[in-house]
Amino acid sequence: MTGALTPTPIARADIPPVGTGAAGRPRVAIAGATGYAGQELLRLLARHPAATLTLAMSSGASSTPRALPALAKIWNEPVIPLDLDRLSAEADVVFLALPETAAAEVAPVLLDRGRRVIDLSGAFRLRDDGQRRRWYPATPLLPEGTVYGLAERHRDQIRGARLVSCPGCYPTAALIALDPLVAAGLLEGAVIVDAKSGVSGAGKTPSDRTHFSENHGSVAAYGIFSHRHGPEIEQEIGMPVTFVPHLVPLDRGILETIYATLRHGATESQVSDALTAAYSDAPFVRLTGGALPEIKHVAHTNFCDVGWKVDEATSRIVLVSCLDNLVKGAAGQAVQNFNVLYGLDERTGLL
Ligand SMILES: NC(=O)c1ccc[n+]([C@@H]2O[C@H](COP(=O)([O-])OP(=O)(O)OC[C@H]3O[C@@H](n4cnc5c(N)ncnc54)[C@H](OP(=O)(O)O)[C@@H]3O)[C@@H](O)[C@H]2O)c1
Repeated sequence: MTGALTPTPIARADIPPVGTGAAGRPRVAIAGATGYAGQELLRLLARHPAATLTLAMSSGASSTPRALPALAKIWNEPVIPLDLDRLSAEADVVFLALPETAAAEVAPVLLDRGRRVIDLSGAFRLRDDGQRRRWYPATPLLPEGTVYGLAERHRDQIRGARLVSCPGCYPTAALIALDPLVAAGLLEGAVIVDAKSGVSGAGKTPSDRTHFSENHGSVAAYGIFSHRHGPEIEQEIGMPVTFVPHLVPLDRGILETIYATLRHGATESQVSDALTAAYSDAPFVRLTGGALPEIKHVAHTNFCDVGWKVDEATSRIVLVSCLDNLVKGAAGQAVQNFNVLYGLDERTGLL
């Protein structure tokens, strides 16, 4: 960011009412539109029937506005350098698809100016100050009105949020599978989340690990006991989790194999009932039971598919949870939260 964070002071305003854009639609803008998650957001928001997309911004490192060839005829406007004054003036809701250090700086400014923020980064996900200091040191405080944006669980709180902090891609898959079982008291002991992700999960800047010639033809574990999504999953389910991510040679998609122990005497039908009841009104969760899900079934969609197998004799359960990291794990989930925030049908612009 270059000078974009020294905005002209504006008096704090109330959250603007719905309907300040064309045809009574909320005006939305994207910061980080040149990234993987941001481009996906652009695709979704440019054709969202109940939002008016007003601005798409890059980091500001490049001084000249640019076009995004992949989005020609979807979004024909240039992507301009990050400008907080314009974001505040021309959007009711700002989607942040920025690195978490930038989001930690930008979100409070926009909130102070009365904008609503939907953040895709990890900056505002951890509620415990000590944990946040450790994993997200650029975020000393959680702004008032921050809600953890897993719509399947926090729909009611999201409706009144000022800042929706969207869950991480790995946690989204894990929590959708585990939450109902934890809430029903069906699990005991430790949980193991064995996760595989395509390379777009690491963003557009290549590294030694994500370089094509390193990643192609290989599978590698990384971040054992040191990945920020581990504490995020633990925060949400309140149980110890051994989280082991792997990088696989796919462009997109996450598949998690989750190993857990059922409370003694718990049955497969209790598992099935808990999951079915939890997601009876969740349009983006597809329960596949014993027919285990695959990345190909969810790629480019906002679905999270969850299957499971139970061995009642040994009280073991294995769940498989699958989503597209750039859609349900990022941009799609953010748009779903926008829909909830504005009282729209959750599927608007996504199905
Ligand atoms: N990738 C995923 O699967 C995924 C899933 C869930 C959540 N997320 C989160 O979403 C956010 C974006 O991820 P991504 O994968 O899309 O990243 P990315 O591909 O690296 O894109 C980053 C975006 O942020 C901009 N940017 C970089 N540094 C900046 C700075 N200092 N100030 C302002 N803007 C800056 C970049 O602009 P330039 O083009 O000008 O550099 C680009 O538009 C991250 O916080 C990530 O953790 C990602």
